[in-house]
Amino acid sequence: MTWTNDFTKQLGIEFPIVQAPMLGVTSPQMVAQLSNAGALGSLPVGGLSPDKTLALIRQTKTLTRKPFAVNLFANTLPTPRAAQASQMREFLTTLARNHNLAAPTADALDTPMYSYADQLDILVSEKISVISFTFGIPDDASLKTLKSTGAVLIGTATSFREAAVLQEKGVDMITAQGIEAGGHRGSFLDDEPLPQVGLISLVSEIVHRLPRPVLAAGGIHDGKTIRAALMLGAQAVQIGTAFIACTESIAIPSYKSAVMNATGTDTALTRAFTGRWARGIRNAFMNEVENSGIAPLPYPLQASLNAALRASAQQRDDKEFTNLWAGQSTVNVQAKPAVEILQQLIQEAEAV
Ligand SMILES: Cc1cc2nc3c(=O)[nH]c(=O)nc-3n(C[C@H](O)[C@H](O)[C@H](O)COP(=O)(O)O)c2cc1C
Repeated sequence: MTWTNDFTKQLGIEFPIVQAPMLGVTSPQMVAQLSNAGALGSLPVGGLSPDKTLALIRQTKTLTRKPFAVNLFANTLPTPRAAQASQMREFLTTLARNHNLAAPTADALDTPMYSYADQLDILVSEKISVISFTFGIPDDASLKTLKSTGAVLIGTATSFREAAVLQEKGVDMITAQGIEAGGHRGSFLDDEPLPQVGLISLVSEIVHRLPRPVLAAGGIHDGKTIRAALMLGAQAVQIGTAFIACTESIAIPSYKSAVMNATGTDTALTRAFTGRWARGIRNAFMNEVENSGIAPLPYPLQASLNAALRASAQQRDDKEFTNLWAGQSTVNVQAKPAVEILQQLIQEAEAV
């Protein structure tokens, strides 16, 4: 099969395979090694401080000279309101006490929040050639700045309407994120209920109706699903879950084994961890927060409030009290170097 297409040519890469940005899982090593092997690595920096963003970009650049994407969160930030948080704070404090985990600190909601706007100067000065984003679209001035650098801009859509908005704003390519996908939903239109469109329907609809190149994300896990997405008209695939347990992943060991052992019904959409809908493997934290009936705080305040609890759970490798983001397709998740996973995907696709 021929891998070369408009997408690979425009980005200067060998395979139309994008390693999904996965905050909390992806390391600079994972990004660099996959880019070095001809795919497109994606470095997640959503919500990180400018200092951390710069350090991660610089570290990745020491490991590869090939193109890689930098991934932003394009949401607007909420105003913390302590009173609104009191019920959730009390609930999490009791939960932490009952399980010997860290309770929310008094200043948890004062944790600095960073926007994509704080990261723009760095992306420009570091001459990042591919910029992907999720949770919305950068404002017009920011888009103009990013476009003036000549970078390829890739936005995330979970519905046809979101894709149309991205196209209207001049975004170059669209990641169609099917409901199967692991991690946060990229959804951003307030006037439609959370889109829950499966990947086959979403890719077909966007390809049929819009001229923009489409990247298929959600449930792609082997050669056949890669070929299927390309056959539907996608120019590239974006793969996350299949890389969670790879050697270069920074996921804790119990998270990796939970993903390797999961089946299609083990994941669910939840707002319990961050306040934003995301797909992960159901665990005690998810159940406890959902059963409490207390509304999660707006994103990312819910995450700030339970950050200490999750960190203490991760420290003791406790998968029950930290987010286990994963997609519905876990059948081919393997604990081996990312490049070996990529090579297997390529060989399988060629053999179909
Ligand atoms: C652990 C995890 C973290 C993720 N973090 C991000 C992120 O930081 N930025 C982003 O655009 N997408 C993120 N995603 C979503 C992926 O970009 C992609 O849509 C998804 O992984 C595709 O579905 P799959 O997991 O079935 O391959 C994340 C997904 C996972 C599984």
